[in-house]
Amino acid sequence: MAVSVGLVGTGTVGRGFLEILAKHHDDFLRHYHIDLQVTRVCSRRNDVACELGFSNVFTYDFHDILNDTSIDLVVELIGGVDDAFDIIAGALQAGKSVVTANKALMAQRGKELFALAHEHKVELAFEASVGGGIPIIGPMKHALISNEISCVMGIVNGTTNFMLTCMAEQNLSYDQALQIAQQKGYAEADPSADVDGLDAAAKIAILSSIAFNTRITLSDVYAQGIRALTPLDLEAARDMGYCVKLLAIGRRSEAGIEVRVHPTMIPRSHALASVKGVYNAVYVVGDAVGDLMFYGEGAGSGAAASAVMGDVLECARHIQGNVRSFVGCTCSDTLPIIAMSQ
Ligand code: HSE
Repeated sequence: MAVSVGLVGTGTVGRGFLEILAKHHDDFLRHYHIDLQVTRVCSRRNDVACELGFSNVFTYDFHDILNDTSIDLVVELIGGVDDAFDIIAGALQAGKSVVTANKALMAQRGKELFALAHEHKVELAFEASVGGGIPIIGPMKHALISNEISCVMGIVNGTTNFMLTCMAEQNLSYDQALQIAQQKGYAEADPSADVDGLDAAAKIAILSSIAFNTRITLSDVYAQGIRALTPLDLEAARDMGYCVKLLAIGRRSEAGIEVRVHPTMIPRSHALASVKGVYNAVYVVGDAVGDLMFYGEGAGSGAAASAVMGDVLECARHIQGNVRSFVGCTCSDTLPIIAMSQ
């Protein structure tokens, strides 16, 4: 039985999702017995859908996906809050599971959406909303579930980390670093969400909600960005043995939970100090597991689409009623085992 997917959004991540599926569809079928079929694609533009062979299932109207009773799973990749909320809420109410990369929406209206998912007995998965390709939501919800987490913190905005790396290593001003980030396509024409710390604030709201079993929204997070930083600040920090990073921090103490984003001096010996360019890292401290760090590409087509596809396959497994986990349920006998000599 195929699992029917409706995709909304064919920007950077949507394109990456379709490309991964084209490359690995047959592998998913062979290894996991999952036949993923994208049966509808909705976007404001039809160019990507046409280029990748989906012109015959393309629509400009997301209601075509919501009203299609054959669609099991909706992948929302348009970003923003209001339209995305209507799409996700409509899909959940129609009994469809949803996979999204939308951190702003999850940080602001996640509670309403989870209530809908619960009510309609479907899934709402959002691994790609934090850290791009880094698996962090899944580990916090599963492998680390037995821990009392005292701290989750990290570099969760690639654009500002790239800019701070340029400013520190090439002695560039904020404006010069921003110009390069825009030329490389990391920063938007309006860079406010990144440079004012709002993107990072949404991400740490999501991580802290999971880590501390509570509901933290964007408005609970203190956010200060990097606009005021100068190369002189970074040089002074370096002279004292520190580097400056835009850290997103969620911390549990006896007084309660504090969640904040701001430029932070961290010792150059700390693992987070080595995270440069557009890379992200999330540092977690649990009472049983100790200190962990998750590191990788925090943005970009392939990285974010990898996280989306992981969620899609997991939802598809549940839709099919396959209770076995992926690993160990099938084995590839197509590759020879290489015998190593002593
Ligand atoms: N603008 C974000 C960043 C993209 O720079 O990290 C991924 O959410």
